[in-house]
Amino acid sequence: MAAAMTTPVEKEVVVDRVVFALNGQRYEVAGVDPSTRLLEFIRTQTPFKGPKLGCGEGGCGACVVLIAKYNPKTDEVTEFTASSCLTLLYTINLCSVITTEGLGNSQDGFHAVQERMSGFHASQCGFCTPGMCMSIFTSLINADKSKRPEPPKGFSKLKVSEAKKAFSGNLCRCTDVDLEDLGLNIFWKKGDRNPDVSELPSYTLGGGVCTFPDFLKTELKSSLDHLNNPCIAASREGWYHPRSIKEYYELINSCLFSDSVKVVVGNTSSGVPGYKDQDLYSKYIDIGGIPELSNIVRRESGFEIGAATSISRTIEILEEECESISSPNGSVVFRKLANHMSKVATPFVRNTASIGGNIVLAQRFPFPSDIATILLGAGVTVCLQVVAERRQITLEEFLEQPPIDATTLLLSIFIPHWIQDSGTNTSLLFETYRAAPRPLGNAVSYVNCAFLGHASVDELSDSLVLSNLRLAFGAYGTEHAIRAKKVEEFLTGKSLTASVVLGAIQLLRETVVPMEGTSHPEYRVSAAVGYLFSFLSPLSKGIPEPGKSLASSSADSADTDDVCNLPLSTRRETFSSDDYKPVGEPIKKYGVELQASGEAVYVDDIPAPKNCLYGEFIYSTQPLAYVKSIKFKSSLASEKIISFVSAKDIPSGGQNIGSSFLFGDEPLFGDPIAEYAGQALGIVIAETQRYADMAAKQVIIEYDTEDLSPPIITAEQAVEKSSYFDVPPELYPKEVGDVSKGMAEADHKIPSTEVKLASEYYFYMETQTALAVPDEDNTLVVYSSSQYPELAQSVIARCLGIPFSNVRVITRRVGGGFGGKAFRSFQVATAAALCAYKLRRPVRMYLNRNTDMVMIGGRHPVKAHYSVGFKSDGKITALHLDLLINAGISPDASPMIPGTIISSVKKYNWGALSFDIKLCKTNNSSKSVMRAPGDTQGSLIADAVIEHVASVLSVDANSVREKNFHTYDTLQLFYPDSAGETSTYTLHSIFDRLAATSSYLDRAESIMKFNSNNKWRKRGISCVPLIFKVEPRPAPGRVSVLNDGSIVVEVGGIEIGQGLWTKVQQMTAFALGKLWPDGGESLLERVRVLQADTLNLIQGGLTAGSTSSESSCAATLQACNMLFDRLKPVLDRLQQQSENVSWDTLISQASKDNVNLSASAYWVPGQVSNKYLNYGAGISEVEIDLLTGAITLIRGDLVYDCGKSLNPAVDLGQIEGSFIQGIGFFVYEEYITNSDGLMISNSTWDYKIPTVDIIPKQFNAEVLNTGYHKNRVLSSKASGEPALVLASSVHCALREAIRAAKVEFAISTVSGRSPLEFQMDVPAPMTLVKELCGLDIVEKYLECLSTYERAAGA
Ligand SMILES: Cc1cc2nc3c(=O)[nH]c(=O)nc-3n(C[C@H](O)[C@H](O)[C@H](O)COP(=O)(O)OP(=O)(O)OC[C@H]3O[C@@H](n4cnc5c(N)ncnc54)[C@H](O)[C@@H]3O)c2cc1C
Ligand code: FES
Ligand code: FES
Repeated sequence: MAAAMTTPVEKEVVVDRVVFALNGQRYEVAGVDPSTRLLEFIRTQTPFKGPKLGCGEGGCGACVVLIAKYNPKTDEVTEFTASSCLTLLYTINLCSVITTEGLGNSQDGFHAVQERMSGFHASQCGFCTPGMCMSIFTSLINADKSKRPEPPKGFSKLKVSEAKKAFSGNLCRCTDVDLEDLGLNIFWKKGDRNPDVSELPSYTLGGGVCTFPDFLKTELKSSLDHLNNPCIAASREGWYHPRSIKEYYELINSCLFSDSVKVVVGNTSSGVPGYKDQDLYSKYIDIGGIPELSNIVRRESGFEIGAATSISRTIEILEEECESISSPNGSVVFRKLANHMSKVATPFVRNTASIGGNIVLAQRFPFPSDIATILLGAGVTVCLQVVAERRQITLEEFLEQPPIDATTLLLSIFIPHWIQDSGTNTSLLFETYRAAPRPLGNAVSYVNCAFLGHASVDELSDSLVLSNLRLAFGAYGTEHAIRAKKVEEFLTGKSLTASVVLGAIQLLRETVVPMEGTSHPEYRVSAAVGYLFSFLSPLSKGIPEPGKSLASSSADSADTDDVCNLPLSTRRETFSSDDYKPVGEPIKKYGVELQASGEAVYVDDIPAPKNCLYGEFIYSTQPLAYVKSIKFKSSLASEKIISFVSAKDIPSGGQNIGSSFLFGDEPLFGDPIAEYAGQALGIVIAETQRYADMAAKQVIIEYDTEDLSPPIITAEQAVEKSSYFDVPPELYPKEVGDVSKGMAEADHKIPSTEVKLASEYYFYMETQTALAVPDEDNTLVVYSSSQYPELAQSVIARCLGIPFSNVRVITRRVGGGFGGKAFRSFQVATAAALCAYKLRRPVRMYLNRNTDMVMIGGRHPVKAHYSVGFKSDGKITALHLDLLINAGISPDASPMIPGTIISSVKKYNWGALSFDIKLCKTNNSSKSVMRAPGDTQGSLIADAVIEHVASVLSVDANSVREKNFHTYDTLQLFYPDSAGETSTYTLHSIFDRLAATSSYLDRAESIMKFNSNNKWRKRGISCVPLIFKVEPRPAPGRVSVLNDGSIVVEVGGIEIGQGLWTKVQQMTAFALGKLWPDGGESLLERVRVLQADTLNLIQGGLTAGSTSSESSCAATLQACNMLFDRLKPVLDRLQQQSENVSWDTLISQASKDNVNLSASAYWVPGQVSNKYLNYGAGISEVEIDLLTGAITLIRGDLVYDCGKSLNPAVDLGQIEGSFIQGIGFFVYEEYITNSDGLMISNSTWDYKIPTVDIIPKQFNAEVLNTGYHKNRVLSSKASGEPALVLASSVHCALREAIRAAKVEFAISTVSGRSPLEFQMDVPAPMTLVKELCGLDIVEKYLECLSTYERAAGA
């Protein structure tokens, strides 16, 4: 740090408290560590738990709160959302904060936003719901404040597009995040629809919540007097709030200043990977209060904006400027800047992130800033204060300077007003672009650009020439955004022809060169080329404009639509059944309002017991090495370490065990050898979770690899070393028929062809967590977010060497599991228990998102080679598969995966099927079950084969599919244990119905037209069938009726968002309702489902495999039937006296008669027909942009057979949610590891799950009620996982679109093969799509045009 550290600050006024309102209550806080985040404070120091910690890096929206500020001069309150995980507590002094509890709650009544989220099934596990409520609420009240015309009663002034943007940054892993047709749409007016508002929870214009209480206004006004105090505002704990530049320099020149001081405005950079805090800071200087940094000065030549202005406010100012400019063309720069900035980060980050903070990050680090690039393109200048000197320099000069330190302050940014020269024939051009995985933001760009220039007509050549060009490029793996000056010079003054554009692009390739180590370097350059081409081609002679249809008159109205702007729409059809009322009705989810209001209790919401400590894992970064020593850097964070727990602390009699299942155990710690990168080596204990997390970052681990053989990372290395897990013979799938014979019968053969599927991370919104509380006599209570508490109990007990009966594991609800909280939850529960046992204090662990991603593992990566034989009519005669499954370090449940993969492959009749499957043991984190484990991979492999066959035969893939559908006979051959009755085989009718309802054939035809009319955009459509085998497992249930007639139910299944509790509630009401003349519906509200407690209800089993709801319902039904048998005689007796016997009278009499009002059951499914098949089909239509690889999902249609659904609304939610999760796996989510197997895409920054801007624009789902199903629980079928598999239709549709691109540009892949045959792995993000479409298609196309030009010239 260059600052002189001499003079101490002389004049300091101590501000030893932060005053703010939280949900209308006054909070005065003193003595707080200045690094405390608002979220941390709310969750640990107040009763409010609504805002959740999902990522801690501004990337998920779980922590969103509303912050309101009051301006006493104008008497105005402004409200905005903020990510409370990044907001420092001290920055909200004299602000008002509202969390979802402040909107409504169970005591005071719920708010319309909460009720509609609940009533329209928009919440599943509920972990994201409070943040969603706050995003929606804030946008509603802001829209309602606008001067727009008054809406009809019950509506708001919010527009659909605003609503969509408002929660575009809120991640949800469970639902399809499309709130639009969930009744929320009546908050805003949409289309011609005329919903009956009176039937919905009432909404008051303005939201009806006081966002800034009067007492705080008064307090704020009185505090203004202090502003004239000539002293620096500071807290004893180290929070400095200089109010002038002079004060700032006094501070940094004082002896207070050191490396542990952080200068901040919004502090959002602490969420940005690579720039996150690596240690604690002892002091903070908040420069947001320096007036020069907040000034907005409008001048004729442009406007100056203070560097501390938030990005959101900057967007507003730019938009206001557009409105105020008289010349319509002049506003183009401001409008495009505003538009681009609205895709930076998320609304709740932009609201607190400063524009200056962004530019300074871009100046100091190779940060992929959008703002620096677009402002560079717009010719911005910056005003700097360097100690006593003030400098005005161009942004370009600023970016090129050596990185600034704290002695330089960025004061303001001047954005010039580019005006169209009136009276000349020159037009002003300005465009900005960004290639990013998500169109609406919350994803940094692979490359971004901004192009400015003037175009005028050259009278001689009658073509356009460019001047004053500024071509800025950034984020492509560069130190900072740059201007492509050689390209600018080359283009200046030239008539734009194909060969000139080609020349410019060739020069650009020399300029835009990503730094070593940048991911997807060729893609980034190619996208930059695409953007320059998009900018120049409309100006050039003879180059058809990209994006415009090639045909003069469009074939179809959709042809010219910008699909990105298509409105979202959904059609949901469910058929409910009256047979077992209220089972079968689409009733609201149990406890869903509590999820929306933040009152639902997840593990981290349980108030910390007295003396609670917090733990965070430290893990190995080496795949196979002796751990020689573990030390910690000397740092502020290390000083917070209270204890370090490792394998040495496992009590004698205990074992180093962290997980277990049927096939073996997995150690808790790598000791003495770390066996994979990501393996736990110990636990750091501190007083708060944040201290523990930060302390864990200080670790220095010394490794030694001497005498150890090299690690096995890949499946191929495992094959070389024959490193496999055994698959028990009874689990190894069965082959069908004689493949050699089938191959001999074939007319065509495709020899061994590869398809690869990567791993997928669970991305439950609630990371792995547990709270362990020591109790008397060496017992422990462990609150665990687990899908398998029963086994967690045994793993903990075995680790500690105590009887199982000493460990009580309690699970109330899980904030998303998807399989990741089955066996993978044990490690955290066991670690917390071990720490609590050792330290004799409660210990909580709530894994940091990055740690969770690195340690927990995910779906099994699979490499498949297929060889297939088929007839000329598309009938497949034989398929042989060689599968390599990378299972990681421990067996976990991996030996079951070969079976599920093959079960899914068998959805087609291959004639004969053989396979060789190797379950590879490698030095990677263990791969475990993830929603539709194995089936997901198997289905894709099957459809890859079908598509390949179709492309070889040059026929529609659907015809090949249908040719190879099972008859009932072949279904029995391929699924001998689960095919069921003929009547239950509904796949053919589902497929036909879907093709009809989605107009498949018409759409396929119009897609062909679209593709022949559009050079740079291609569409594809694909239809995929589903056969999914499930097997219900035994489950316990206990139903108890209390003396007041209320009912409590305990079941083995865990509520993980799948609606298990709701179905159990319905089943109880149905079964006991038979005793009540009104029927069960009136009993519904009397039923309470209790949390799982392993010492209360034993043999709870595993919640997974889509069947836990039905098993728990079956057990509940059995228990209820026992109660029925006991209560019926009492009822009969009572009815002899009076016909109308109420439930209360019945229970009261039964109680007097000493009837046992509690019944327990253990439901064991029948051995015959236990396994059964689920059927469904899905069609997806996509569009790709050949210049950038951008993907738009135009439409998705699903039809799913749910038997007699227990709750069609819940099932539909499951089906849609799993389909969207599948889209993530097949297209967007990149599970990237380094060469040591360490996961490096370990943040919300790098790992992109689907959001509202990614889901299909039109999404239609239908749940079929297919009548009576013998052997099923009230004829119901599973819904939780199967539909995920249908998302492979998106992958297949992408392949179709890419095929169209390859035909257009005649791109061949493997020599000798048709361009239609190519390998497309999973996932297939935009980078891969572009690669497959050709990274150099623009150049090739221009070369072609240039040849014509030359020929024409000659
Ligand atoms: C989830 C997320 C997504 C994001 N996505 C994008 C994206 O898509 N595109 C993009 O461009 N950016 C993105 N960002 C970056 C974001 O724009 C910046 O974090 C933000 O603008 C920084 O502003 P701040 O006020 O929070 O700075 P702070 O975090 O407070 O400060 C950042 C750094 O700048 C210094 N500093 C701040 N202001 C000044 C000043 N006036 N003078 C001197 N030094 C100063 C501070 O000392 C600190 O070192 C994202 C950030 C997050 C958290
Ligand atoms: S927890 Fe704050 S955005 Fe994720
Ligand atoms: S309901 Fe959104 S994450 Fe579970």
